[in-house]
Amino acid sequence: MMMRVLWFASLALCSFAANASGGGKFSGPAAFGKTSGGEKVEMVTLTNKNGMVAKFITRGAALAELQVPDKDGKLANVVLGFDNAAGYESDANQYFGCVTGRVANRIAKGKFTLDGKEYKLAINNDPNHLHGGVKKSLDKVIWLPERRKEDPACSIRFAYTSVDGEEGYPGNVAFQVLYTLTDDNELKIEYMATTDKATPINLTNHSYFNLAGAGSDSVLDHKLFVSADKYTPTDDTLIPTGKIADVKGTPLDFTEPHPMRQNVETLIKTSAIGLDHNFVIKDHQKGKVVLAAKLGDPGSRRLLTVYTDQPGIQIYTGNYLKGQKGKDGKTYNQRSAVCLETQNFPNAVNEPAFPSPVLRPGETYRHTCIFAFSVVK
Ligand code: BGC
Repeated sequence: MMMRVLWFASLALCSFAANASGGGKFSGPAAFGKTSGGEKVEMVTLTNKNGMVAKFITRGAALAELQVPDKDGKLANVVLGFDNAAGYESDANQYFGCVTGRVANRIAKGKFTLDGKEYKLAINNDPNHLHGGVKKSLDKVIWLPERRKEDPACSIRFAYTSVDGEEGYPGNVAFQVLYTLTDDNELKIEYMATTDKATPINLTNHSYFNLAGAGSDSVLDHKLFVSADKYTPTDDTLIPTGKIADVKGTPLDFTEPHPMRQNVETLIKTSAIGLDHNFVIKDHQKGKVVLAAKLGDPGSRRLLTVYTDQPGIQIYTGNYLKGQKGKDGKTYNQRSAVCLETQNFPNAVNEPAFPSPVLRPGETYRHTCIFAFSVVK
């Protein structure tokens, strides 16, 4: 017990330095294959001065590989992915690494009313709408890789314009995501969107992490800290009730870092079948990037610290992973990875008590998420 506390207590000392992005390099785009519809998929690689590597594919603007050093400086890929475009198109792909949207997470019964008009969306997570729809959700479309003079050397920008009515959502929306790999071993994700009609937007990155290396068996012995005293309780279909409740006295109390195992084992009996909950980030302030969560693997001593300017973080312990084969022949068993999805609250478009996800013409949606990697000494 004491060891555990000491091990994680030292995590607090790991500093966060923003925006250092000098020494790295960019390469690509290189061919990654073709979709079944014949569209080409490309890959871009970022390498920082410490040798940390992040690879992205244009389908879904997805993080496809992330090589991170452990306590001995040994690199391993810590995110789930596939070797080829066919893998990403198959139903083994459960939103691996992608930009998720237009509205990540659930919209109750697949409908919402905006400025007096009702919009109907695909019900793809019965009885609700999940992660932006079926065919043209942001994870399934091809994004355009872009390099701009003003962008850091070790970065890549992806752009995609979603047309009015796509997946049932109103407005032509121009989306951008800028990924920067800094020399402080941070992967910084900056999203932007503008629209010509009022429309709900809620983007996130859906990377599945296993800090012992993707394909390692369970993530339940990873230690988790969440900077949240409160969460949004849900009904049995994982739609928030609208209440904000205390984590204290529930299996969602990660205010002290500890292994996820016991909490998840309690939650298996619930409709979430593990961790699949939205936490209310304690220090959230609009426009300010604050600490959201920390995840540590005691074996490799890799530590991931998550910062964001969003009000919530959905933490999902890969409860529906099903033993599918992924990158490098690895098997992805149930709960062998965890997603740390910074975002607005689920179903916010139907819940007046939650921060509004509605973007209007003339406004810009902005969202920053930083995945900062270090090792615990
Ligand atoms: C959701 C889960 C869902 C998963 C799909 C997560 O963001 O919270 O409920 O099953 O995505 O991969």
